[in-house]
Order: sequence, then C-alpha cells, then structure tokens
Amino acid sequence: MIRLDIIAGARPNFMKIAPIIEALKPYEGKIKYRLVHTGQHYDEKMSGSFFRELGIPSPDVNLEVGSGTQAEQTSRIMTRYESLLMQSPADCCLVVGDVTSTMACSITAKKMGLKVVHVEAGIRSRDLSMPEEINRMVTDAITDYCFTTSEVANENLRELGHGEDNICFVGNTMIDTLLKNMDRLKRPQVWDDLSLKEGHYFVMTLHRPANVDEERKLAELIDEVVLGARSLPIVFPVHPRTAKVLKKLGIQSENLHMIGPLGYLEFNYLVKNAFAVITDSGGITEETTVMNVPCLTLRDNTERPETITLGTNELVGTDPSEIAPFMKRLHEGQWKKGQIPPLWDGKTGQRIAKLLLEKLG
Ligand code: UD1
Repeated sequence: MIRLDIIAGARPNFMKIAPIIEALKPYEGKIKYRLVHTGQHYDEKMSGSFFRELGIPSPDVNLEVGSGTQAEQTSRIMTRYESLLMQSPADCCLVVGDVTSTMACSITAKKMGLKVVHVEAGIRSRDLSMPEEINRMVTDAITDYCFTTSEVANENLRELGHGEDNICFVGNTMIDTLLKNMDRLKRPQVWDDLSLKEGHYFVMTLHRPANVDEERKLAELIDEVVLGARSLPIVFPVHPRTAKVLKKLGIQSENLHMIGPLGYLEFNYLVKNAFAVITDSGGITEETTVMNVPCLTLRDNTERPETITLGTNELVGTDPSEIAPFMKRLHEGQWKKGQIPPLWDGKTGQRIAKLLLEKLG
C-alpha cells in the first residue's frame, strides 16, 4: 500500500486537488491518501466553502499555521508537517501549484526521505520578486515526479536537468474542476443586486503585493480601470489582503462594486458571463482561456504563456497608463478568440492517478 500525503494550503490549491482525490477512488486498495491542510488560508470564504462546493473530503489533518510573514509561515508549516511525519510517516508527498505550503511541505518531505510529486511543475515567470516564483523553483529542484500543464513547462524542466522519465505532461487539474462544474455554476446575489446583464460588466481581482501593497499605485490602477470601463459595472470581489489597503484608501466610484471573496461556483458564474476580466492572478487566466472570456492581466510577466499564445489573455503590465489602449481595443470588439491548450480536457486527474500507481507502485 502506498501512503500518499496530499497537501493543500491556500485557495488556489483546492480546485487543483479535487480531481486528483476523485480519480484516486478506484485505486483505494493500492494508494491510501491522507489530506493535509496546512491552514495557510483559514477563512470560511477562502477555504471551507471550496471544500463543500467541490465535494472535497474534510482534511485528515489541519496544521493550522495561519497568517504571517513568508518566513514565519514557511517555518511553521515545516515544523508542524515534520512532526506529523515523525508521528505518522508517509511514502510520498503530492503538492500542487506555487503557494508557500507547496514549497514548505516539499522541502520537509524530501528531507524526511519521501518521494515528492509536484502537480503544475515547471512553469516560470522569471520574476523573482514574486514569492510564488521562488516557491516554484525550490519545489521543482527537489521534485521526483513533475506533472505538467504545458510543453513550455516540460522544456523548462529539461533545462533544469530533469530526465524524461520524471516529466509527465498530464494537463491541467484546475480545468478538470472547471469543466466538471460548468453546469453547476451559481448566480450570485450581486447579479440581482446590480441588475447585471450577460456580457455587460467586468470582473476584477487584484491581490499581488506588487499591485496592492502600495496605496497610490492601487488607487491609480483602479482609477484607470474605472475610466476604461466606460460606465459598465465592475464587480470586484476583494481578497482580504487587498481589503486592508482599500479600507485606508476609501475609493468610491459609481460603477465600481467591491464585494467580499466569492465561492468557486459563484465566482466562475460571474467570469463566464462577463464582458471581460481584469486580474493579477495566474489561475484565472487559465479559466478565462477555457471559457473564451477576454482577460487583461495587470502584471509584467506570466508563468502561463499559453494563455496568451493560445488563449484570451493579454499582458497589460502594472503601469496604470498602459490600461487605456487595451480597454479601447476591447470596446471596439477587436479582442482575439482563444483556443484551448493541449490536454486541458477534463481528464488530467485520471492521468495523474494512473501515473502515481505506475511510478510509486
Ligand atoms: C496566497 C498565495 C498566492 C495566491 C493567493 C490566493 C503564497 C505565497 N501566495 O497569497 O499565490 O494567489 O494565496 O488567494 O502562498 N488572510 C485572511 N484570511 C485567510 C487567509 C489570509 O484574512 O483565510 C489575509 C491575512 O491577513 C494574510 C493575508 O491575507 O496576512 C495574505 O495571506 P497569505 O496566505 O500570506 O497569502 P495570499 O496573499 O493569500
């Protein structure tokens, strides 16, 4: 019996583990998994609601690390996960994505002699000012089996010296979850409250420290988006980090509607029916690509180039003055149509489960 730890810590992890857990069901007699929640995200709206909506079983263990600086969070996750492994060992640790929990658990597991599997391995922004890029680099450097979402990621891993046997191009588990739930998406209350109409509003999300931690920059970015939206409503579900800064700024505008974080089904309902999405998230650019919704990314780089070369995403940058020409093109109906990247077909979880047995069995 293979003892597998599946790690999840923060909001963007939950939709990535759900299809893997589902696909492991037929292998129950061969792979026994333990779901470890680090507690990096702990609010009901950032964590609990995702488990319920996506049918993810309750975690077997919650390390309850909570918030803190990068080093505080990393060290708490490492010491608590190490204690868990000492009391109750495992053979393999599966991590997803690029959050602090991903890196901290992979280091701990590798040093305790476990095999490390990284799902969404090999993607790179080449921007080391992002904590996520450091998390990706460290995790991939010690990963035994790299499961990837794209050919570009495979190439990056080859350059790092990973052999072909350790690189498995499987597709995108986040898209498995999206396709599975497309018919279950739920109209949020804000739809009726604002009398939203299909294709006639924007959705915006901003949470990267580079965009939100500097008050003046955030205010300028929002001003430009409001101007460029030409009075179409902008629905802005606000991450707790951004909320703290916005509270101080007191920004108000008639067509800007700030709401709390939404659940998965409600958020993607809004995205699916939006005129366009404005974001600094990486995962959302993958979802908009699959839903064929125009996406403007307020970042200078992306670790997901296929959302641009094949998908509906464009890099606007972080300079507020860059926003207007993109908005103009959007209003003029000049946005490109997207294609779905290879293997983003809803079957990635199944491919991963089969490979886990092959590689670890
Ligand atoms: C993390 C990920 C980021 C991901 C984002 C999605 C890292 C380095 N970053 O960033 O890649 O896109 O999640 O949401 O792991 N907070 C709450 N409630 C919570 C969790 C956090 O209020 O449940 C607040 C706390 O004040 C905390 C702040 O949000 O200090 C930031 O949380 P943290 O986990 O440090 O990183 P995120 O910015 O959420």
